[in-house]
Amino acid sequence: MVEKVFVNLKENSYNIVIGDKLENIDSYIGKYSKILILTNKTVGKIYGETVKTALKSRDVFYYEIEDGEEYKNIDTALEVYDKLIEWEFTRDSLIISLGGGVVCDLTGYIAATYMRGIDFVQIPTSLLAQVDASVGGKVAINYKGKNLIGAFYQPKLVFIDHRVLNTLCNREIKTGIAETLKIALCFDKEYYEYLNENSQKFLSLDEEVVKKVITKACELKAKVVGIDEKENGIRALLNYGHSFGHVVECLTDYRVYTHGEGVVIGMNFANKLAEFLGITSKEYCDLCSELFEKYGLSYDIPKFDFERMLEVLKRDKKNRENKLKFVFSEELGKAHTESVSIEKIKEFYDSIDGNNVKAVIDMGTNTCRLFIAEVKNGNLKVPYLKRMEIVSLGEGVNESKVLKEEAINRTIKVLKEYKNLADQMGVTNIVTKATSATRDAENREYFINRALVEANIKIDCISGQDEGNYTFKGATLDIKDKIILIDIGGGSTEVIVGDFKGIEYIKSFNVGAIRIKEKFFENDDFITNFYTAKEWVLDEFKELKNLNIKDYKLVAVAGTATTQVTVRDEIKEYDSKLVHKVIVTKEDLVNNLKIYKDKSIEERKKIIGLHPKRAEFIIGGTYILEFLMELFNKDEFTVSENDILDGIMIED
Ligand SMILES: NC(=O)c1ccc[n+]([C@@H]2O[C@H](COP(=O)([O-])OP(=O)(O)OC[C@H]3O[C@@H](n4cnc5c(N)ncnc54)[C@H](O)[C@@H]3O)[C@@H](O)[C@H]2O)c1
Repeated sequence: MVEKVFVNLKENSYNIVIGDKLENIDSYIGKYSKILILTNKTVGKIYGETVKTALKSRDVFYYEIEDGEEYKNIDTALEVYDKLIEWEFTRDSLIISLGGGVVCDLTGYIAATYMRGIDFVQIPTSLLAQVDASVGGKVAINYKGKNLIGAFYQPKLVFIDHRVLNTLCNREIKTGIAETLKIALCFDKEYYEYLNENSQKFLSLDEEVVKKVITKACELKAKVVGIDEKENGIRALLNYGHSFGHVVECLTDYRVYTHGEGVVIGMNFANKLAEFLGITSKEYCDLCSELFEKYGLSYDIPKFDFERMLEVLKRDKKNRENKLKFVFSEELGKAHTESVSIEKIKEFYDSIDGNNVKAVIDMGTNTCRLFIAEVKNGNLKVPYLKRMEIVSLGEGVNESKVLKEEAINRTIKVLKEYKNLADQMGVTNIVTKATSATRDAENREYFINRALVEANIKIDCISGQDEGNYTFKGATLDIKDKIILIDIGGGSTEVIVGDFKGIEYIKSFNVGAIRIKEKFFENDDFITNFYTAKEWVLDEFKELKNLNIKDYKLVAVAGTATTQVTVRDEIKEYDSKLVHKVIVTKEDLVNNLKIYKDKSIEERKKIIGLHPKRAEFIIGGTYILEFLMELFNKDEFTVSENDILDGIMIED
């Protein structure tokens, strides 16, 4: 059965149709001179043809934008305006949105502004858009902030075919679920009960349940919007969970949490704050948490730097007398807004047991890497980002034992950038460990001091043994076999044997990708000294022959190893998911070596998958890998993206 919800806004009233098929859209659309179907590349590929065919008796135009929140901007709007002008769209034309909240918001914004406003119809295809974004006429684009440019502009119709959710990924389904839970907790006890009882069916997209959930959400939202279209009163309650939710999304640069995931954390934040202030009970907070858990939604509160958190929180609020306004749901189906003093918010934030937002910097010989994540009690909770810059801090340190001034300058510049990024993300704790290059340098105190004074970064110089321990801890996070772990750095190679329960053998060797290059392969000549280099490596590693490692899996971490995958698979843009736990064979190494050696350094810098700054050292590093495989009698190794950074991250 097709459901209809009427949104009563006088002359701006319209219907939300729920449950009919996309194929039947034509009969709901009035007479228009021209129609544009505006969608994105993902949704267009799946449903574009269906909607085009359904409207084939009309003068239909079709346009796809790129997929992603970053395209909800003025450039995309201009692109579409150009098309509308080219196709001579007028006031009696129509635009239909076909997509998630991004396409809905953008289409609405374009319709509101093109020729001072033309009609538009929403066909929301994500759950979030079906229960929230497409209803209520808030249309916007992002400019210097989320949804900063926009209008209240109502569509002529919202057409929801819930079947399209079958192609939506699980994570996006959950982000929509979060909004339905929000509506229930704020406005309707019975709706909560329905959601609480039907979680499994909802999660498995049972048709009847999904339709009912969407219809009820639309009814409740329509009622609220009907009373308060422009958000002067009750409509503001729909922002429950959005204050801290917005902080979470914003501080992680909209790349870590989806909108719905942020809202769940925000609702938990509001609940806990309400409990702290005596506005609600612990029982009610627990009941909400149980509901989130039923839907597999995480609600752990990240503990950002308070001042940074406050900065974002304030942007969202009407700031009166040092107080910030929150939406609180004090009991099932009820909500209200209330101002809270900054002192109280601080007291509350300090008191909660949330996730620690931590940054780790690994200061190697060649690279300087950053990892930011949420951790709690030695567990990695939410990874935010990993960055890598090749700074070649240890350039020439083998011979001179001194870090060059230019190398220090390069490194300090990167450390400053990392510190800035960590501050932006509200990190509370930065741990920086320096390994072989710094360790080996006579002027290391000078470098460490400059990092402290100029970048406000405190560097802790660790031994090769510690380096190995951390790396092993990281690598065994998700590889549970017995392993021989090799970590080829610029100045040293760590070899560690064991499994997640413990280390059986560990040693740091003074063999590294930069070291071998500087010692044997001057002027990019890999022929003259090849055998001497091999002899040297095998001699340095000779004690490894005695290890009893027949059934152990060979695992390699760090740039030399990951590059073998990115070059073999021609990965243009580094994505750790395409590299982690990928197997590389001896044959792959031979093929890769051919690719590297066929070229001059300049040509090598252009190899797809090879970072240009690795061009000088990759051959030396690959040889070390090859010699070690020979020594261990292994035909393949597994690449792990979890290494020293992860090991340090999970240390309490
Ligand atoms: N106007 C409002 O009242 C309102 C309310 C809430 C959110 N929003 C806005 O909505 C946006 C977020 O919306 P969203 O969560 O839908 O994100 P989205 O539009 O980016 O969609 C999420 C992803 O799902 C894909 N997708 C959508 N439908 C699909 C389908 N049926 N099958 C396969 N893939 C599909 C999209 O291409 C995209 O990759 C934000 O910009 C937010 O500001 C607006």
